[in-house]
Amino acid sequence: MAVSVDRILRWKQTGAPAQPITVLTAWDVMSGQIVDQAGADIVLVGDSLAMVALGYDTTLPLTTEDMVICAKAVRRGVKNALLVVDLPFLSYQTSVEDAIRAAGQMLKIGAQAVKLEGGHDEVVETVRRLVQWGIPVMGHVGLTPQSVNQLGGFRKQGKTPEEGDRILAEAKALEQAGAFCVVLEHIPAELARNITKALSIPTIGIGAGVHCDGQVLVTADVLGLSAWQPPFAKVYANLRQQAVEAAQQFCEEVRSGQYPA
Ligand code: KIV
Ligand code: NA
Repeated sequence: MAVSVDRILRWKQTGAPAQPITVLTAWDVMSGQIVDQAGADIVLVGDSLAMVALGYDTTLPLTTEDMVICAKAVRRGVKNALLVVDLPFLSYQTSVEDAIRAAGQMLKIGAQAVKLEGGHDEVVETVRRLVQWGIPVMGHVGLTPQSVNQLGGFRKQGKTPEEGDRILAEAKALEQAGAFCVVLEHIPAELARNITKALSIPTIGIGAGVHCDGQVLVTADVLGLSAWQPPFAKVYANLRQQAVEAAQQFCEEVRSGQYPA
């Protein structure tokens, strides 16, 4: 049975001790097919693809047009998982109207929900309006990479009690606004546990400890494809090395006359 927003929303309200929600990213048809076939509950076309697939140093340069191309490719590869697409930097910050337009564009190409970063008053109001118009929203607090210039790097957030209280309040506000789940990125496990307890919608952690209702990682990190992985990522395969060796072997065999036989 294909995964729906409703199923994610009710995940922790069923009473039964539900298994954690699994979320993996994708950026093209192949990565989409791979994580869907692997049985991930949610496939996220994360704007991390700016770094993973397009070679930028941050997520900021990604445009809505770039995202549409990648999301359409992923859509063709995902049959079962819930498909969530990140709204790129500057596609939703400028006004509620721009946010509705950008989010609507993603739904038109087959996304089932969108993700926006932040939990301050403006983004909460935007989330409320999107949800009113039938556009499901995944929230994202803690380390929000689109604010890297203000955060001074991809650093752990919520380390002081004041910061922790603010992030908890943001997560609650996003729930109030109608978000169906919220990503907690790179915050202390204890804080993630408190937020997870305080919310009735699922929390999806990345570098946020074991107490979240689900976990997300960037698939290029999981597969060992990315040139660099953050310290909290677990690397389950070494595909970059294997790929280089396979390509090397091809070159050697052509040069030596072994291929084609
Ligand atoms: O862009 C992304 O991959 C993300 C996840 C890491 C949550 O936002
Ligand atoms: Na993202």
